[in-house]
Amino acid sequence: MKALLCNAFGPIEDLTVAETPAPVPDDDQVLVDVRCASLNFPDALMVQGRYQIKPPTPFSPGMDLAGVVHQIGKNVTHVSVGERVIAFPGHGAFAEMCVAPKEKVIQLPEGMPFATGAAFGLTYSTAIHAFADCGRLLKDESVLVLGAAGGVGLAAIEVAKAMGARVIAAASDPEKLAVCRSTGADETIDYSKEDLRKRTLALTGGKGVNVVCDPVGGAYTQDALRATAWGGRLLVIGFAAGEIPKIPLNLALLSERAIIGVYWGSWSALYPAKHQRNMAQLAQWFAEGKIKPLISDMISLSGVPEAMRRLMARQVKGKVVIQVQDH
Ligand SMILES: NC(=O)c1ccc[n+]([C@@H]2O[C@H](COP(=O)([O-])OP(=O)(O)OC[C@H]3O[C@@H](n4cnc5c(N)ncnc54)[C@H](OP(=O)(O)O)[C@@H]3O)[C@@H](O)[C@H]2O)c1
Repeated sequence: MKALLCNAFGPIEDLTVAETPAPVPDDDQVLVDVRCASLNFPDALMVQGRYQIKPPTPFSPGMDLAGVVHQIGKNVTHVSVGERVIAFPGHGAFAEMCVAPKEKVIQLPEGMPFATGAAFGLTYSTAIHAFADCGRLLKDESVLVLGAAGGVGLAAIEVAKAMGARVIAAASDPEKLAVCRSTGADETIDYSKEDLRKRTLALTGGKGVNVVCDPVGGAYTQDALRATAWGGRLLVIGFAAGEIPKIPLNLALLSERAIIGVYWGSWSALYPAKHQRNMAQLAQWFAEGKIKPLISDMISLSGVPEAMRRLMARQVKGKVVIQVQDH
């Protein structure tokens, strides 16, 4: 099969497209014919050896895919050969065939194209887990989303709106903010020019927001935490800015704020039934037209290194989808 390969941890430019043997599923795995996959920030970190998970080399990156079941292990009962699925393999999606653990394979929602399925999986399931399970977001509460035009960010806007929240989207340029508004954000902040804390307080009548969704980190995190209301919740999702912030804990004490870690990958493996419930909710919102991933680019496997470079340079809005096979 054809695959994008990381032969050794290192620069993104060293990734190559090559022929490699197809993986063989074990008893608890599903082998999928990959139709589309999507790029996520951790893919770019993983190939450089900068992610918490370091697969043995050579490996194919790619955490998010949609395709058709090719073969199932003997303990797999919930999907069958020929079925259209979404899968979260951990890595390996940027290849014509990929194995995933059975708990990380679900049916593609009715009427959803492969490209949408690939773009929808990881970011939306992270967003719903963050708000529903970790942040316990309530209807009519307010949410501040950082990096709001990114993959997780746009998903967070739509999920928070679907849950009945008011959404303030923060991003680094006017084009990104326009995308956030067309995705449903009620208000926007250009945090490259405006003071994030002051603008957030101004937009909430001085009270602050109830929940912050933070996939960015760096200096924005503390400003965002200081712009939360009494009982505010900071959802720690990632550090796209490259810096893990250190937060003075008096900020938590003073307004009974909570700093809550979100790690969808491990949570969904520990609690597969809850993960399935979230995916069913997302499928329902998709059917109701409440969520629709923004696919900004469709590329081939050979285009992945350049797309990764653009992602790391803050030049991507929404999701990049890789058309792995088109039949
Ligand atoms: N915890 C979990 O379960 C989980 C699940 C999925 C993803 N994540 C993490 O969430 C983060 C975002 O993932 P994503 O797929 O949404 O990435 P993305 O599409 O690239 O979005 C990240 C956003 O971060 C902002 N950013 C600020 N400084 C940046 C910098 N120096 N380099 C790159 N981006 C920067 C950019 O927005 P502006 O230019 O507008 O600032 C960008 O749009 C990653 O750290 C990822 O590992 C965590």
